[in-house]
Formats: sequence, C-alpha cells, structure tokens
Amino acid sequence: MTGRKDDRLWGGRFEREPNAHFDAFQRSFLFDRRLLPYEIAVDRAWAKALEPVGIFSPAEVKLTLAALDKVSRRAETDSAWVDSFGANAEDVHHFVEKALVEELGPLGWKLHTGRSRNELVATDFRLLVIDAAAEIERGLSLLLNALLEQAKRNINVPMAGMTHMQHAQPILLSHFLLAHAEAFLRDVTRLEHAAASADACPMGSGALAGNSFGIDRHAIARELGFSRITANSLDAVSDRDFALDYLFALAGIATHLSRLAEDFVIFASQEFAYVVLPDEYSTGSSLMPQKKNPDSWELIRGKTGRITGALLGLLTTLKGLPSSYQRDLQEDKEALFAAHDQVGDMLHVARGALAGTGFQEDRLRAAASNPLLLATEAADYLVHKGVPFRQAHDIVGKVLREAERQGILWTELPEKDLKSISPAFEIDFSTGLNVAAALKAKNVPGGTAPDAVKRAISDLEERLNKKTSKIGATP
Ligand code: ARG
Repeated sequence: MTGRKDDRLWGGRFEREPNAHFDAFQRSFLFDRRLLPYEIAVDRAWAKALEPVGIFSPAEVKLTLAALDKVSRRAETDSAWVDSFGANAEDVHHFVEKALVEELGPLGWKLHTGRSRNELVATDFRLLVIDAAAEIERGLSLLLNALLEQAKRNINVPMAGMTHMQHAQPILLSHFLLAHAEAFLRDVTRLEHAAASADACPMGSGALAGNSFGIDRHAIARELGFSRITANSLDAVSDRDFALDYLFALAGIATHLSRLAEDFVIFASQEFAYVVLPDEYSTGSSLMPQKKNPDSWELIRGKTGRITGALLGLLTTLKGLPSSYQRDLQEDKEALFAAHDQVGDMLHVARGALAGTGFQEDRLRAAASNPLLLATEAADYLVHKGVPFRQAHDIVGKVLREAERQGILWTELPEKDLKSISPAFEIDFSTGLNVAAALKAKNVPGGTAPDAVKRAISDLEERLNKKTSKIGATP
C-alpha cells in the first residue's frame, strides 16, 4: 500500500497524514465501542452471507467466525486491551477489522467485501436501540409494579384532589397513584414503537446504492433477529428515525418521571406533609441540621432537561441534512447512549424512592375532609332534586357566601337558612354529604369510586402483564 499508514480503512488516495487534532476530532471509537457486540454479530452474519455468493470459501468463513469469536471474548474480558488496541482505531468498525487482520493476516481484510460502514453503523445502532428499549421497558415495569403496590396498600385513603393547585374534590390516593401509572404504561407503548421502528436490517444497502454481489439480505436480517429489511438503500444509510423515536420515548418517560417527582417534592414539604420520604433516598443539609431534602425527586426532575436536550439535539443534527449518509450522522450516538443510561438510573431511583415512601394518612384525610371539597356534591344533590345544574351551581355559591357572612362552615349552616336559599334542600341533604359518599358517587369506569379504582387496578395489571410477558420482565 502507498499513501497513508496502511492500517487505515481509506488510505490509498491520500498523500499526507491527517492533521493530528482533526484526526482525534473525527474518531468515534471512544463512544462507539459500545456498539462492539452488535458489530461482531453483524460481522458474523456478513461472513456467512459471503459464502453462498462465492466470496468466501467454507474454510475462510470458518476461520473468520473463529477469529470473530476470539476478538469478542477478548473484548469482553480484557478492557485494557480494548483501550490500548482501540487507541489507533478510527471507530468500532475499524477496531474489529484491525483485530481480524491481526488474527488472520490478509484474510481479515476480506470481510469488508461489498459493504460500507454507512450500513454497518446503521445496523449496529438499530440493534442497540432494540435492546436498549427492552431494558428500559423492564425498568418501567418495575416502577409500575411499585406504583401498583402503593395503590393497593393505600387503596381507600382519601386525599384532596386538586386542579390549578387548588383543592377541588376528594379523590382516593390510589386513584392519584394510578394516574401516574397510566402515563408510564403509555411509555411502554412508545418504547415498543421505537423498537418496531428500529426493526429493519440495512445490511446490503452498501454505502448508498445497494450490493453488487447478490447478497441475501433476508438471510442476514433473519440471522440478526430483524423481522424485515429496509426498503431503500439511500434511505437505509440516512434514516435515524428509530433513534428519534427512541429518544422521544425516553423524553416521554423523563417528563412523566419529572411530573411524579414534582408531586412528591410538594407532598414532602411541611405545608403538605402528605408523605415521609425514605432516608435512603433523601439527603441532609450541611448547614441546617433539621433538613431532610427530597433530592432523589429533585434530581430526577432536574435530569429530565438533558433527556429532552438529547432529542432536540438529534432533531437539530438531522434538520437540513442532504439525503444519504453524511458524517454529521456520527453525532447520533453519544447523547442517545447518555440519555438511555440516565433514564435507566432515574427509573431505578424513582422505583426505590416510591416503594419506601410512607403516606401520612391522617394528613391526607384531613385535607380531604375540608367541607369546601363537597360543594360540587351539593350542586349534584340539587340536580337530583330537579334543579338545572347552572342554577344549582349558583344556589351553592349563595350558600357558601351566606356561611362566610355568618362566619361558620357552610356545612354547619342551619336548615332554615338553606331552605330560604332554595326549597330544594331537604332533610336528606346533610346526612348524605360526606367524603365517603362523594367518592362512592364517582362510580364510572376511570372514576375515583373505591369500586372503580379496584377494577382499574386489575385492568392495569392485566394490560401491564400482557405487555411485559413479551419482554420477560424480571427484577
Ligand atoms: N463512525 C461513523 C459513524 O458513526 C461510521 C460511518 C463512517 N462512514 C464514513 N463514510 N466515514 O457514523
């Protein structure tokens, strides 16, 4: 070989070595080494595919597969070797080729016949995203189990439901917990969508135009566990929608975690005191000895920024790229890897913090017992007595105003005063006006009545089991 150092993948047409700073700038091995197990799997499938088309003899396939096994084993057990050998590798593809050449001599160069790093990187990355999505799905299902566990443990505890952060109507704590669970179950669906979008094999697309050796693309896809092949070679090397879908799923999870975190930060404050956070997931202050801070939830809320950032980063990288492979696409990996790791950690911490949280039943009950929360029930009572709702709303407003004027709780207003505001108020009014009755009345599917919540728990468990039986969720 002439030109550049002969262990580069592309030295032939160059006279001079690259600028050292630029060379370091363009290398990706430091982060794409994470693709190594997938690269080796793809190499194995490719080696096998080269035999029926007459590029490899059966003996050459055997030698190549054995060498790939050796490289794979060494990489798994000897990270110092990966560091030192990889120091001169441009990327993960170059790394494996160099290692193969060291094992096999010139035969090691033959594996790259008819293929391009453009299709390799897309294939490796898709395989990683499929595995990554399954891993996060397992984390989500554990968090969902923790939410369900707490909902069951606190099934009949009432709390003050709020809108606009104002006390609104009584709800069950279990209903509140299930609301978060529904959001996380939607995230499972998003992860499945991301995995389905990654599930197409680009191998055989070449650098952009396809493969001229008649390679069996379906056989390669099958060997790698893909259920289909990509439909257009140009699209295959430039498509990163599967990565966007995965990042969107991660951003959704992080956003939902952040909202859960916000609820718990507020509930742990002295004003609410609805929850006691576990010591294991709280920190103290270096200055104020009494402090117990909800840092686990605050960090979960805080880290959400970088997950959203990763999604926006890739969208921005892709915007305006011409079709086909561009080197910009190398920027697709680092932020996704980091976002995946972070969300995995966030789920883990959220699950632990949630499972160890104690709910302060007396505080929750006291808040739910604020008579103002029953004002809507009074309007509903009048509706049952034949008063149109708008009028009923107005009557209850007047009742509230009168009680305020007398300086008493509106539920203590004497019957004669009620009657003078509306004759529709009868003897059964005050007996039926309580938190338990208000809760019981909300007996629609999806409502907060105890029976409805019980049904919702088993329904959610069923949907979760249906999903996780596919991924084999184990703690
Ligand atoms: N390291 C590259 C990436 O991550 C691999 C593909 C390089 N292709 C190329 N034509 N330079 O995208």
